Order: sequence, then structure tokens, then C-alpha cells
Amino acid sequence: MPLVTRVTDLIGRTPLFELAATQTGTRLLLKLEQFNPTGAAKIRMARHMILDAEHRGLLRSGGHIIESTSGNTGLGLAVVAAERGYRFTAVVDHHASKDKLRAMRAMGADLVFVADEGNDDLATSAREDLAEAMAAERENAYFTEQHNNTANAMGYYAMAEELLEDVDRVDILLSAVGTGGSLFGAATRLRELGCVPYVVGVEPVGSIAFGGSGGPYWQSGTGTPPGATIGAAVDYSLLDEGVKVSDTAAFATARAVATEVGLMLGGSAGGSVHAALTRLAQFPPGSTVVTIVCDGGEKYLDTVFDNSWMRDRGLLDADAEQEVVQLLRRYRPAPRHGFVEAR
Ligand SMILES: Cc1ncc(COP(=O)(O)O)c(C=O)c1O
Repeated sequence: MPLVTRVTDLIGRTPLFELAATQTGTRLLLKLEQFNPTGAAKIRMARHMILDAEHRGLLRSGGHIIESTSGNTGLGLAVVAAERGYRFTAVVDHHASKDKLRAMRAMGADLVFVADEGNDDLATSAREDLAEAMAAERENAYFTEQHNNTANAMGYYAMAEELLEDVDRVDILLSAVGTGGSLFGAATRLRELGCVPYVVGVEPVGSIAFGGSGGPYWQSGTGTPPGATIGAAVDYSLLDEGVKVSDTAAFATARAVATEVGLMLGGSAGGSVHAALTRLAQFPPGSTVVTIVCDGGEKYLDTVFDNSWMRDRGLLDADAEQEVVQLLRRYRPAPRHGFVEAR
């Protein structure tokens, strides 16, 4: 890899990891997006939204970027703003992981909270209203509006190209849907490249993008809570199936993958992997199933991987974790013990 001078030059070329394989040759591959700077997929689209705004003359030198974020988009925008000399204000709530908020601040972002400390409700709609109002009343400010920005999905085109460099084809693309940018952006580009996967979207139980009246949920960064509008980046024309996964199942999966495999998944990736593992045997034999891991578990040590936090919210479920452990053991080769001589 050549020497680089910008952090954003480190975006992409993330590894593809085989988590599971059935006896009929179907395999579950994880696109490990936590290997991007900021530890998340969203920096891909953050860069793309800013380059697009510059190109269209919507963001000028010394301008002010404003976005409503659950954390990962804000982290990506904080990097791009630092690199390109913009001011960045993230409109946030206390539902976001504390580490994400601290890291945004560390990179010079201003944080504006829509609720007081101690209120950790997900407040997507209040955040978006405030971000829009702030941008409207400030000089040279630009609201990136990720839910309705076409550059969001386009930011993932390179990810689809990377997939087809690593595998011949993607038969099933199964991933979390928040704004929809990552799943539908990747699906769009795969189609352009002649690969038409069966597309499965995953959202938390409580999210409303695939129907239902909704309710609260703890999976961070994903889904559409009741009251929030579903943005244009959710492209239903590309969706073959929408699946809901409970917080308990999603978090049990992240925890089981950590103990069985030594791989730390974030809560939303736990949800996607749960949906994939429990359906793996139903997919046609020989299928290549790809799941996008939006971020890693290291961001959730105080929540998903903290027994007290889990217990206090009624989310700790040893049986659910055991079920995932059993699935992983069924679909993964037995561990090899013994000393392997170093070369
Ligand atoms: C942890 C996590 N999971 C899932 C998603 C959903 O991705 P998208 O907005 O591309 O649908 C996000 C987006 O912010 C995220 O941060």
C-alpha cells in the first residue's frame, strides 16, 4: 500500500471474513467495515457527501457542516471537516454511545444535544428538525441530511466494487437499514456491475421501515424509530425481504461471536448476523451471502458487552447466546489446537 497523507485515503479495502459455511456450500461472509478510519462504514458516505457538496457549490471554503447523527456519520464528518478546514456541528442525543460522542469532540466537532443528560431516548426526529433549523439560520452552513442525500448511497459504490474483487458474485446481500445508504448503495452498484443479489434488509423490532407501529429499541445507528420519517435512501424497489430482529437476539449474537470467534461486532451487525445465521440453511445451496458489518463491538463495551447495562434493561439472555453459539459451532470448523511452529 502506498504512503498516504490524509486519513480519508485509508478508507476502504476492508477485509471480507468467512464467519460460517454450510455443508451445502453456502457461506456467510462479513464485510468488516470497522477496519475503516473511525471504525465504521459511515466514513465512506461522509466523505462522499462533502465532496459532492463542494462539487455542487453548496459548501464553500471555511463553511459549516451540520448533521443529525447517532455517532458514526458524525465521526466520519468530523474527520472530513478536520481535513478540509470546515467547522462541524453534530446534533446528537444521549442514545448515542459515549465513546462516539467523545471521539467527535476530540476531533474538534461541536456537539448540540436535543435532550438533557440522563434522558437516553432515541430522538432522531428532534435531531433532524434542529439540524435543519440551525443550518437555515447560519451563514455558509450546509445540512448534509444523510437520509435524503443521494451522495449517501453513492458513498458505498466502492464497497460493492471491493466485494466483486474478492468474490465472483454476491447472491444474497443482507444488512442493517438505518438511512438505507449502505445496503441500497451497495445493491445499486452491484446491479450496475451485472450482479443482482437477493436483498434482505434488517431492522430492530420497534423500527418502522418494514411496517408495524414501532416502539423503543437499543440497537444503535440503525432502524427508523416511530415518528421519524423514512428517507429517500431507503429504496424499497431494491428490497426483496425486510426482517426484524429483537435487541435481545442482536446483542446475544454480538456477544456469542465475540466469545466463539474473537470478533467484536456492534449491536446492529449482531442483528444482521443473527438474521443471516438463522436463515443460512434456507438459502439455495452454494450461495454467497454477504453482510455488511457497520461497526465493531469496541464501541459498545459500556452497553452490549456490559452485563450490568444489559441486565438493567432486561436484555441479558444466556439461552439466546447459547443458541447462537450452537449455530456457530454447526457452521464453523472445529478449532485446531496445538502449537503451530512459527516460520
Ligand atoms: C452501527 C450502525 N449500524 C447500522 C447503520 C445503518 O446504516 P445505513 O444508515 O447505511 O442504513 C448505521 C448508520 O449510521 C450505524 O452507525
